[in-house]
Amino acid sequence: MHREPMMDDQSLKSHMPDAMMSIPDGTLDLGWGHQSSGLHPVEAIRNVARGVLESNGLVALQYGPEQGFGALLEELSAFLSDQDSYTKSVEPDSLFLTAGASGALDLACTALMKSGDVVFVEEPTYYPVSRMFHERGLEVIGVPTDNSGIRTDLLREMLDDPKISRPVALYTIPSFHNPASTVLPVHRRQELVELAERHEFVVLSDDVYQLLHYDSLPPPPIITFDNTQSGCAISLGSFSKVLAPGLRLGWIQANPELLKRFVNLGLLASGGGLSQFSAVLVQRILRYGLLADNIDFLRKTYAERIQVLAGALRSRFGDLATFDVPAGGYFFWVTFPSDVDTQELLPVAQEHGVSYRPGSDFSQSGMFSNSLRISFSLYDAADLELSVKRLSEALKEYRS
Ligand SMILES: Cc1ncc(COP(=O)(O)O)c(C=O)c1O
Repeated sequence: MHREPMMDDQSLKSHMPDAMMSIPDGTLDLGWGHQSSGLHPVEAIRNVARGVLESNGLVALQYGPEQGFGALLEELSAFLSDQDSYTKSVEPDSLFLTAGASGALDLACTALMKSGDVVFVEEPTYYPVSRMFHERGLEVIGVPTDNSGIRTDLLREMLDDPKISRPVALYTIPSFHNPASTVLPVHRRQELVELAERHEFVVLSDDVYQLLHYDSLPPPPIITFDNTQSGCAISLGSFSKVLAPGLRLGWIQANPELLKRFVNLGLLASGGGLSQFSAVLVQRILRYGLLADNIDFLRKTYAERIQVLAGALRSRFGDLATFDVPAGGYFFWVTFPSDVDTQELLPVAQEHGVSYRPGSDFSQSGMFSNSLRISFSLYDAADLELSVKRLSEALKEYRS
């Protein structure tokens, strides 16, 4: 006999973790690039989920088509085509649903690379990606960046250097970079495509923050500039940052020729399209305009937090901390004088009840030892101010 689940059912509680993030009591941990649980649109999702189960439950609970739930591909194509940060229309047959951008990257390793291949990443880069590449036996080589993103002039030199191995792919985060929050200008986006075509590698463009702009618009995704016959740029999108990460839903946008290499993978032949239930749910969320509303809400919330955090950093650290105020995304990338090692500062900060991600975590070669990444996605204004106060006290103690 089935038990009827009850709200707040104690039997659903477990001693095992129920979320990825774990933060010691009393610590404000700015190291997590996760959205505050309070910002998840639970009410909207609950209502839509009820409707899905009442009228479309059979489809939602079935194996999905390999490319992803068709109605969402169409809805997403219309949604993206309508966004100010996307200047070209996005066709449904260029989209493929994934288990988030992380799932997309993992599939890209299967579809496009083999052990021993070389992949270029930015210095600094989103740290779990290097780990994913290493786990596949890929050689990871860092390309320098500046405060406008990847240095395409230096990339060109590296590609022409016979001593450096040829890459099969280059992974980049062009809009509101993680961790550096930089935005790659149009001419460098164009140059990346030109280099990818000439040197026959694929640009894996992680665009998970493309829609989270608070100030000025970022240039359109790199794929916009790809006019090659069979495609040399892939855009990775995600509902994690604009809706909720537990949905495990994202997408790949690519030339349909290139997309075939994903759609034809054995994983999909066995398990069908990815995250089918979430896809049916999100199609309705888009159809009812709830995603657009949620993004507006997040933009306002994060823009306010940025002002508070920037103000607190300036007033507590003065000239000691250098940073650019982010125009989108989740992160401040803060650099201290060269005598500060943020790995060494970390335990001191934790004793003061604050934590962050040290800069060297984002490097292939231990660079950025005097930088750190702090995220404003998890805490409200009051907690952000308090954490900067704690961090400044920790820095004082560390330097004395
Ligand atoms: C640059 C970047 N890519 C990918 C991800 C993970 O995205 P998803 O939840 O869609 O797997 C994150 C999350 O922090 C991120 O910052």
